[in-house]
Amino acid sequence: MSTTAPVLKATGLAKTFGAGESAVRAVDDVSLDVRPGELVLVKGPSGSGKTTLLSILGGLMRPSAGTVELKDSTLTSLGETALASVRAREIGFVFQAYNLLEALDVEDNVLFPARLVRGDFDQARARASALIERLDLHRRRHARPNALSGGEKQRVAVARALINDPPLILADEPTGNLDSQRGLEVAMILHDIARDDRRAIVIVTHDERIEDIADRILWLEDGRLRDRKAEPHEWIKDPVCGMRVDRWTAKLFASHEGKDYAFCTRRCLERFEANPKGFLNAPSQKTEAD
Ligand SMILES: Nc1ncnc2c1ncn2[C@@H]1O[C@H](COP(=O)(O)OP(=O)(O)O)[C@@H](O)[C@H]1O
Ligand SMILES: [Mg+2]
Repeated sequence: MSTTAPVLKATGLAKTFGAGESAVRAVDDVSLDVRPGELVLVKGPSGSGKTTLLSILGGLMRPSAGTVELKDSTLTSLGETALASVRAREIGFVFQAYNLLEALDVEDNVLFPARLVRGDFDQARARASALIERLDLHRRRHARPNALSGGEKQRVAVARALINDPPLILADEPTGNLDSQRGLEVAMILHDIARDDRRAIVIVTHDERIEDIADRILWLEDGRLRDRKAEPHEWIKDPVCGMRVDRWTAKLFASHEGKDYAFCTRRCLERFEANPKGFLNAPSQKTEAD
């Protein structure tokens, strides 16, 4: 696989918002490439620059510095019209909030990006039907988004992302609004799309439940990619529920008698704080190296 040319190649990307004192360097010297069939997960805490990076990779935002190459096009040197055209043909987007058009039914939502490109619309209809079958939406073909479950909405968004047969799929927190089961389903679908169709997929997320589907995990912190292999990667267990959390991405911490504990949710943190001793003798309180 390493001999195949990358679909996406980003070099030295940077993005600064604002100026002077209040300037925020949201993306800072990021380079990466993604090959056909490869699913890359970019993880990092909230505010680490994930959405900004993905928007630049997808030609939705111009970087302050650096280049993005997508197959034979250099997105960062295209004008708006050419960029919009490459975006429509070569990139499928999936967003956390689904971004479906409420006035359109499932089929017309899936077909929508096909209206933005030149081509045979009857063929697009046939592709939409096949995608609707593939994503198990055939019984919902004429439903409006507001009648769909979250998992169904995200499957519609995935079908829509595929309608123009793009080599690259970019997904921003695609499981962020879904429960564990539905989130995992959507993650598995994206995984299969990378494998079966040989598409390149980049998912940005802070959802640790979907790590297993990735070929590679990149870690973003304060806009920079970190080489986490060079650092000890510690998994720790939430002492309350026993769930595995990551010391690096966990957001909720408490100290008790000089030791730090991490929690998956505020609820676990609050239960711990109400009665630390009740949880500290549990066998789940154990630190393990990765
Ligand atoms: N349009 C914008 N204007 C100013 N600052 C922004 C803008 N978009 C993002 N930022 C800032 O850039 C940083 C990275 O944001 P973002 O890419 O949304 O992170 P993430 O998706 O990882 O949560 C944050 O500090 C955020 O406040
Ligand atoms: Mg984001």
